[in-house]
Amino acid sequence: MSSPAFYIRSVPVYGSPGVPGSVPTILAPMDGYSDLPFRKLCREYGSAMSYTEFVAVEAILHGAKKALKMLEFDPAEQPQMSFQIFGPNEHDIVEAAKRCEQMGAGIVDLNMGCSVPNVSGRGAGAGLLRDPAKIGRIFNAMSKALRIPVTGKIRIGWDARSLNHVQVARIMEDNGAALVAVHGRTKEQKYTGHANWDAIAEVKQAVKIPVIGNGDVRRVEDIARMRAHTGCDGVMIARAAIGNPWIFSGKNREQVLVRDVIGLMRRHLEMNLRHYGDYGLILFRKYAARYIIGVPGAAELRHALVTAPTVEAFLDHLAGLEERADELDRQALELRRQHADPLAVDDLNDMSCLESRCDLASAPVGERQLAYDVHYRTAVV
Ligand SMILES: Cc1cc2nc3c(=O)[nH]c(=O)nc-3n(C[C@H](O)[C@H](O)[C@H](O)COP(=O)(O)O)c2cc1C
Repeated sequence: MSSPAFYIRSVPVYGSPGVPGSVPTILAPMDGYSDLPFRKLCREYGSAMSYTEFVAVEAILHGAKKALKMLEFDPAEQPQMSFQIFGPNEHDIVEAAKRCEQMGAGIVDLNMGCSVPNVSGRGAGAGLLRDPAKIGRIFNAMSKALRIPVTGKIRIGWDARSLNHVQVARIMEDNGAALVAVHGRTKEQKYTGHANWDAIAEVKQAVKIPVIGNGDVRRVEDIARMRAHTGCDGVMIARAAIGNPWIFSGKNREQVLVRDVIGLMRRHLEMNLRHYGDYGLILFRKYAARYIIGVPGAAELRHALVTAPTVEAFLDHLAGLEERADELDRQALELRRQHADPLAVDDLNDMSCLESRCDLASAPVGERQLAYDVHYRTAVV
């Protein structure tokens, strides 16, 4: 194995071999998505680390079953296995971090980026950015209480008038943080506008700990572009990895044959069923909807897949698709020739079918229902 690209204290992080320049490329923490099966697949393709979905510190301290399930991991994910936690209360954060260490985390990461009102509004997630001194106290206490590295993921500020990414990153470093990941947007921006890569570069200039850049990496080419622009040590990818874990091996979605998409869907579904039991089919729907983006006839197919009532019915649809795989690849190629845009890249970054648990609560009712159906229902009506 090649030498590590950087260390998170003593934890080595290796470059993603298939990616140009072997930049360490990392699946982002994503509520509702970065679970054990999907993380494992992304690691196989080249993701250099694992982050759990964010888990509430209160839920960890209460030993809530769902929280513990979200913190399950595969030994192969170690030592780069990071448990991401969030909460508003200093004492609870530190106690939950200690529990994570006892549960076998390789790293504990504090979420300081979640923008949804019922998280940031109560001082958790991006809400912490409004109180840098509190961030300092939390990292000081966590880094003293834990043997494993503690890290944090931030946005660049609460809003455009209060950008404090450099101040926050420095405070983190001064108080024992071993790495900072920066999503180049403010809390107010949510997922709109463009990620500010200059701000990520400013953080990289300001601290000695490793910096991971995040925001708007949609295609393989963007990985080297972000690295060159910011000097970041690693590149984190969220939305563009859903439906395209191949990005960690240096492939854009349109370079993947339909047959390979089907093969991976079967495997991912099987892993989901093993991890979640029958419910794994329902949880797989949101991934299925994304895997088929770019396949001709995706809209019809998506409906068939997300309404398939049983695993057998789902696999039958995939078998039907497989029979037409070569023809569909030819059609897709033809469509790409006719349209300059290689693949509707924005489809892979479209938030409309990516609502996470907490976003559901704040979305308009119609969207909320659609998102809820795609995520959780046995049938979309
Ligand atoms: C569905 C969804 C769920 C997310 N959940 C989390 C989370 O649990 N923790 C976190 O730090 N960021 C979370 N994020 C933010 C991403 O990690 C990332 O910062 C953001 O999407 C920007 O990266 P991208 O442009 O590659 O998508 C989530 C994003 C999405 C789209």
